[in-house]
Amino acid sequence: MSERHADSGRRVSTSDHLEVSAYLEIAQERAGTPSDGADSSGAHGVVVVDFGSQYSRLIARRVREMRVYCAVVPPTASWAEVSASNPRGIILSGGPASVYDEGAPMPQPWVYQHGLPILGICYGTQALVQQLGGRVDPAEAREYGHAVLHQDEADGSIFANLPPSMPVWMSHSDHIVELPPGFRSLAHTDSSPMAAIGNGGNILGLQFHPEVVHTDNGKAILENFLFGVCQCDAKWTPDNFIDQSVKAVREQVGSGKVICALSGGVDSAVTAALIHEAIGNQLTSIFVNNGLMRREEPERVLDTFQNKLNLNMLYVDASERFLRRLQSVVDPEEKRRVVGEEFIRVFEESAAELGDTEYLAQGTLYPDVIESQTPGNSASAKIKTHHNVGGLPEHMTLKLVEPLRELFKDEVRDVGLALGLPPEVVHRQPFPGPGLAIRVMGDVTAEKLEMLRACDWIVIDEIKDSNLYHQLWQTFAVLTDTQSVGVTGDFRAYGHVAAIRAVSSEDAMTADWVRLPYEVLSRISNRICNEVPGVTRVVYDITSKPPGTIEWE
Ligand code: XMP
Repeated sequence: MSERHADSGRRVSTSDHLEVSAYLEIAQERAGTPSDGADSSGAHGVVVVDFGSQYSRLIARRVREMRVYCAVVPPTASWAEVSASNPRGIILSGGPASVYDEGAPMPQPWVYQHGLPILGICYGTQALVQQLGGRVDPAEAREYGHAVLHQDEADGSIFANLPPSMPVWMSHSDHIVELPPGFRSLAHTDSSPMAAIGNGGNILGLQFHPEVVHTDNGKAILENFLFGVCQCDAKWTPDNFIDQSVKAVREQVGSGKVICALSGGVDSAVTAALIHEAIGNQLTSIFVNNGLMRREEPERVLDTFQNKLNLNMLYVDASERFLRRLQSVVDPEEKRRVVGEEFIRVFEESAAELGDTEYLAQGTLYPDVIESQTPGNSASAKIKTHHNVGGLPEHMTLKLVEPLRELFKDEVRDVGLALGLPPEVVHRQPFPGPGLAIRVMGDVTAEKLEMLRACDWIVIDEIKDSNLYHQLWQTFAVLTDTQSVGVTGDFRAYGHVAAIRAVSSEDAMTADWVRLPYEVLSRISNRICNEVPGVTRVVYDITSKPPGTIEWE
C-alpha cells in the first residue's frame, strides 16, 4: 500500500465496506496467476458490470459476436445473481461518474473475491485503480477521439500478437496518476502515460475503448482477454442457444398450455417458432388481424406459420371491429390507446375460448431486461409499450414464458434463421403495433387504408427491387390529410398527398432520412400517381430524428 494511502487511512466505500488493504491482498495474491480460480463449468461467459456507459451494451454485443456469452449487470447486482451464469471473467464498463464523486458507483467485493480475470474499461479501470490503492485525478483537458497507443513492453496477454503502436479511441476526463501497488503500465498515449495497466496476473485495465470500431485492434484486444486471459469457450451459437432454450421451455411448462400473440414481427415470430420447437401443439399462437396491416400481410403470416411451419394457429379477423372503434378518432395517442385496448379485448376473448391455458409467451429481448434493471430509467416503460403492441392484460393470471430474454435483436434474427424461419420474416423492417392507423393522418377509414396499402405496396416493391430494403431501418408511405390538385389524363383531379419516408437507424432512438436515389423516388412517385386512385401528389420526407420522429403520428 502506498504511504499516502496508509497514512491517510483512506477507506474505499463499497456496499460491504471492504477495506483497501483487503482488496490489495486479494489482488497481490493473484499477481502472476492468470485465470486461477475461474469456474470451469456452466455457460463460460463473462459479465459486464455496467457503470452507465453508452457503450456497455456494445461491449456485450462485441463479446457475443465472438460467440462468448455475456451478461450485463448493474453495479448493485449480488454475487448470487452473477454466479448463476458461471462467468469466467468480469468486465468493468465505462461510465459518466468520476471515481472521486460522492456516491460514485464502485465494484463490489465479489468482483475481486473469486479470482476471476478482470478487465476495466475507462471508468471501470479508474474505479479499480482507486479501489486497489492508486489515484485518479481530473485530467487537464478531456481526451476525446483518436489517439495512438504505444506498448511499454511486449505484453503476452491483452496485447498478444498486436503491433507495438496502434490507433485507439479515447473518451475520458479523469486519468490515472498513481498505480496501485503491484501494477505497472502496459501502454501509453501522448496524453495518458498509463493508458493500459496490469498486475502481472489477470487484472487488467484500459483507459481507451476497445469495443468501439474506431479502436482498430479492439476486437483482437477483447479476444485476447476472452480466450487468452479468461479461457472462455466460443459456444454461444444459435444452435446451442436453441438446444438450451428448448430444454428450458420444456422444463418450465411441462405439459401446460401456452398462448402467444403472433404479430408477424420478428420477435413474436421467433418466440413462437422456438416454443413450437420445444412443445409443439401445446402452443397456440393467436394472430389478430386488426385490419391495419399492409397488403397481403395477414395472408403471408398465416401461410408461413400455419402452412409452412405447422404452428397451431388461432386466426381472428377483427378488422371490422377495430375500424368501428377507430371511427372519428383523429388524435394519434387516442388511436394508439384504442388499438391497444381493442387488441387486449380480442386477445382475452380468444384466450378464454381456448380454455385451460397456464402460460403466456412474450418476445421480451435483452435490451428490455437491461433497461428494466437500470434504476430510474424512464426509457424502459416506453420500449415495453411499443414492444408488446400496447401492453398485454395485466390481470390475466398467466405465467410468462420469455425465451428471448437473453438475446439482442441481431441474435434473435440468427436464431430465427437457424429455426428455419423464412428470411423475409426474419429481416422484416419494424412495423408499429397500431399499424397503418398511425400512417393515415386524421380519421381512419377503410377507403383511406386501402389507398395507403396501395402506396405502401409500391414503395416496398421499388425499394426491394433496388436492393435497398435490408439496408434501411424503415421505408413506408404516409397518407396525409392534405388535398391537392392534379391532372389525370384530360381531367382535373383533387386527391390526397402521399408522403414517402425512408430512414436509417441503429435502434430507432435516432434516425437519419435516407438519400434515396432520384430514379427510385421518381419510379415510386410515377407509380403512385398512376396506380393509386385518390392520390394526386407524392412528397419525400427529409426530416431526421430528432427533431422529427420516424412515424408521422
Ligand atoms: P418514432 O415515431 O417514435 O418511432 O420515432 C420509433 C420506432 O417505434 C415504432 N413505433 C411504434 N411501435 N407501437 C409500436 O409498436 C407504437 O405505438 C409505435 N410508435 C412508433 C416506429 O415504427 C419506429 O420503429
